[in-house]
Amino acid sequence: MLDPKLLDQIIDVAAKAAYKSSLLKGKGDKNAADQAAVDAMRNELNSMSIQGKVVIGEGEMDEAPMLYIGEILGKSKEPKIDIAVDPLDGTKLAANNQPNAISVISISEKGQLLQAPDTYMDKISVGPNLPDGVVDIDEDIKKNIENIAKAKNKNVKDVCICMLDRDRHQHFMDGAKSLGSKLKLISDGDVAGSIFSALDSSEVDMYVGIGGAPEGVLAASAIKCLGGQFQSRLIIEDDDEIARANKLGITDFNKKYNLNDMVKGDVIFCSTGVTDGELVSGIQVEENKFHSETFALHYSQKFFQKVKKTYDI
Ligand code: FBP
Repeated sequence: MLDPKLLDQIIDVAAKAAYKSSLLKGKGDKNAADQAAVDAMRNELNSMSIQGKVVIGEGEMDEAPMLYIGEILGKSKEPKIDIAVDPLDGTKLAANNQPNAISVISISEKGQLLQAPDTYMDKISVGPNLPDGVVDIDEDIKKNIENIAKAKNKNVKDVCICMLDRDRHQHFMDGAKSLGSKLKLISDGDVAGSIFSALDSSEVDMYVGIGGAPEGVLAASAIKCLGGQFQSRLIIEDDDEIARANKLGITDFNKKYNLNDMVKGDVIFCSTGVTDGELVSGIQVEENKFHSETFALHYSQKFFQKVKKTYDI
């Protein structure tokens, strides 16, 4: 089990990354906004009394000097934890000052998070209190919608499906449309998109589609804490991706991952708003302080809350 005291520190990690990134919102430079979040997140993690290993990060060591996969962070030998980060999910959203840019991190005990390569991943998620296997990544979209409608005792026309607005998802859009179901198309940021499927406060019943694999592991961390269901499959397209997956010990590219294959054991998940969004509000700066809102979850503690904090600048 992860020490509950870690939650507050991980909230600070996400909040400080979000703050630094927010200073660059609307400046049209997505790389700078991302780098600011990366630097802040790395500094904060390095100041913690942990031995953390980055399992989901900014890329391979040779392409990402900071928060690369395998980087060891923290100033102690214990506790040994796995760290998954997406310092800025929605780099374009932040650069264009659009809603839903967030800083995201999850941690587990050593060896408990899927080490996914930086490739695409096919994903599907739903919320809590639904029969096991109510949806399946290999099932037709219409059947999945009908199953959810039945389980939630609602009309298929009232079922809402969230996905990234991409041409590759046209068959999902067509399937949903043919049943008269509702779509929620997002331009970016599918960690939040997937989380919507598990929140009572959101109209989204199911998240589907292809997005980043790193974002998939982070979203699965949150969905686990929220009691929902998540399935995924890596999309490995060329020799380079085969090599990257192999390096992480992955050889079966058809494997269907269920939630507990991706996130074993206890997990803490935090995402702080950079810009205002449906999940959390963005960073507010006031004189020499900033205010943050973090969606903070700890699986074993059954903790899920939006936590507001104020920090001196
Ligand atoms: P970045 O923040 O790295 O730009 O990623 C944004 C994002 O929308 C992710 O949330 C999502 O998983 C991925 O990009 C989808 O990739 P693509 O834009 O290539 O469809």
